[in-house]
Amino acid sequence: MLLLPGDGIGPEVTAQARRVLEAVAQSAELALEIEAGLIGGAAIDAQGAPLDDATVARARQCRGVLLGAVGGPKWDALPVESRPERGLLRIRRELGLYANLRPAVVFPALAEASTLRPEVVRDIDLLVVRELTGGIYFGEPRGRALVSGRREARNTMVYDEVEIARIAHVAFAAARRRGRSVTHVHKANVLEVSQLWVEVVNEVAREYEDVTLQHQLVDSCAMLLLSDPGRFDVIVTGNLFGDILSDEAAMLTGSLGMLPSASLGAGGVGLYEPVHGSAPDIAGQDIANPLAAILSVAMLFEHSFEQADCARRIHDAVTAVLDDGHRTRDLLPVEAASRALGSKAMTDRVLEKLGC
Ligand code: NAD
Ligand code: IPM
Ligand code: MN
Repeated sequence: MLLLPGDGIGPEVTAQARRVLEAVAQSAELALEIEAGLIGGAAIDAQGAPLDDATVARARQCRGVLLGAVGGPKWDALPVESRPERGLLRIRRELGLYANLRPAVVFPALAEASTLRPEVVRDIDLLVVRELTGGIYFGEPRGRALVSGRREARNTMVYDEVEIARIAHVAFAAARRRGRSVTHVHKANVLEVSQLWVEVVNEVAREYEDVTLQHQLVDSCAMLLLSDPGRFDVIVTGNLFGDILSDEAAMLTGSLGMLPSASLGAGGVGLYEPVHGSAPDIAGQDIANPLAAILSVAMLFEHSFEQADCARRIHDAVTAVLDDGHRTRDLLPVEAASRALGSKAMTDRVLEKLGC
């Protein structure tokens, strides 16, 4: 196991997640070795770059990497190629982690915490399958230039059929284990890239006749996530649309502080991280919601350690803590903030429910 806490609230939430990781591994009698490393702004400050080769090499040797978050105002003025976020993009790409699974589930006790009406959010149980190592994030050419005295910048959205087919297979296989429905989200009314996605996703769908497939334009998908989120089971989409829609899906469930993720690929190592960022506005105060990081540990047990029981136990413990009414600040209306638990106290409750 490699722990990469990163920046802002990253070190706070991963410290709490680590407590759960160690407690559950111990009670399941799993031998666990945890090493720590630097990524993001923390690595820039210590080493001059957001991720070094040695850390990538260590990650390759591990079954799982648990990451906090990267970035913050201190490094915002840096050009994109040397920002903290580059470290995260590099580790995803170097480890070949093309499949980013972002499950958005409404814990029953939190139906009231959503900004939408409880009857709209109650049925949410969806999985965003986001392509993570291609698209406009990585396409060439990219960069800035001075053209006829004007500043110009460009990025390129590019996917080939192999990249599309492999993420489509991940989505259809996941749907088979869930509600047997895939929604492919695209912008094929404008983009050639999306037209290729529609074609290739349709071809892959022929191998999964028991799964229904719909194609949905990304703008109307953003609307439907607010009006009728319960209709979605598995959403499959490219890197940029997936980034945006998964934050939207997170908020439906009550808070960005609740959503975990797993990034998987062809190799043996998986990367687990909360969907949220480094939240500089609340860093260093022990008030961040640690549950997205803790639920990322559950995903680590499920996907990298193949210990579905441990994953289930963590999920059940989180459900029970929320059922008991415990809340971090992000899950409460402003007027109730005084009864909020801090990150550590919330994790204490989870550990109690786990019996650890
Ligand atoms: P953010 O996700 O960090 O924060 C958005 C809002 O949600 C903030 O108000 C924050 O306080 C709140 N929030 C986020 N996580 C929370 C938690 N666990 N508990 C309670 N509240 C929480 O997004 P941002 O402010 O747009 O970005 C800040 C920095 O994080 C940027 O540098 C960005 O690039 C980076 N970022 C990193 C990752 C990552 O490392 N995976 C993801 C997203 C953003
Ligand atoms: C995420 C983040 C990252 C992304 C950034 C920090 C590079 O927003 O994991 O959702 O855009 O993928
Ligand atoms: Mn994001």
